[in-house]
Amino acid sequence: MKQILTELDIRDWLTPVSASSQTLAIQQLENGNILYMPKLSFSLLNEELPALSTRISNHKAKNISFNSQLDQLHGANHVDYDPIMIKSMMARFAKYAHALINHVLPSYSKALQIGRTSYRPIEIHGRKPKSYRKDDTRLHVDAFPASPNQGRRILRVFTNINPDGKGRVWRYGEAFQHVVDRFLPKIGNPWPGRSAVLKALGITKTYCTEYDYIMLNIHNKMKADMRYQRTAVQGEIDFAPGNTWIVQTDHVSHAALSGQFLLEQTFYLPVEAMQNPELSPLRVLEAAKDRKLTI
Ligand code: SIN
Ligand code: FE
Repeated sequence: MKQILTELDIRDWLTPVSASSQTLAIQQLENGNILYMPKLSFSLLNEELPALSTRISNHKAKNISFNSQLDQLHGANHVDYDPIMIKSMMARFAKYAHALINHVLPSYSKALQIGRTSYRPIEIHGRKPKSYRKDDTRLHVDAFPASPNQGRRILRVFTNINPDGKGRVWRYGEAFQHVVDRFLPKIGNPWPGRSAVLKALGITKTYCTEYDYIMLNIHNKMKADMRYQRTAVQGEIDFAPGNTWIVQTDHVSHAALSGQFLLEQTFYLPVEAMQNPELSPLRVLEAAKDRKLTI
């Protein structure tokens, strides 16, 4: 199996990156690699240290999520914790993650759209998901039922902030083209008018294109297939505390097996802003179907 990590020697969120690292980074990322920065850590301030507890979660949502643009926080325990402290910690991470992308992938900057910041204080191993579709310990590519993205790339920055030396253990699977070859033939066409009905009923926040329909089906079928989960070509990575990694999770087959206390920032990127748009899931699927899928 090919080496999936591309290591970058970046130790500071706000320092510019050499042109040679930028050239390597965009090429490797778009080809399905994970950009791995083992020495890029995120330190909590003294007043933020109480955040390193499961009590910070309201235990209803899987993660604590923060919309830094609307200043909205979800999933936190508001009784025992000051939301201002949580927001300021997550806003600082969002700012650093954005600066990192601007430095490492400067050609994305103009088109980059900022998504949610997420804080994951609950141990993944042994957690009981509500359904297999929500089980991130199974290999999958990211696609979300309520949030169609109409072909935009999902670009994520992760940092393990575990204080007890515990790694974030991931599995990664086969290349996206292989995933498509295996699962696309099992997916039928959506029924006519499906997207308009989902939108009208409020099931999706935005219009669900055929691309979104296919990606969600691939996501669900990968997770449902236990034989595939066992037998697909795969490898394991242990991201130690103090590691940061950048990955296009709509493209890289991944699963999180164990770990606790992780920060994550999501960005979206229109396919046209890529150096090589042909490598996007949208273009790969359009090539396989021989038609446009963004309608
Ligand atoms: C996922 O994106 O499936 C989970 C990643 C993580 O929480 O480590
Ligand atoms: Fe995922």
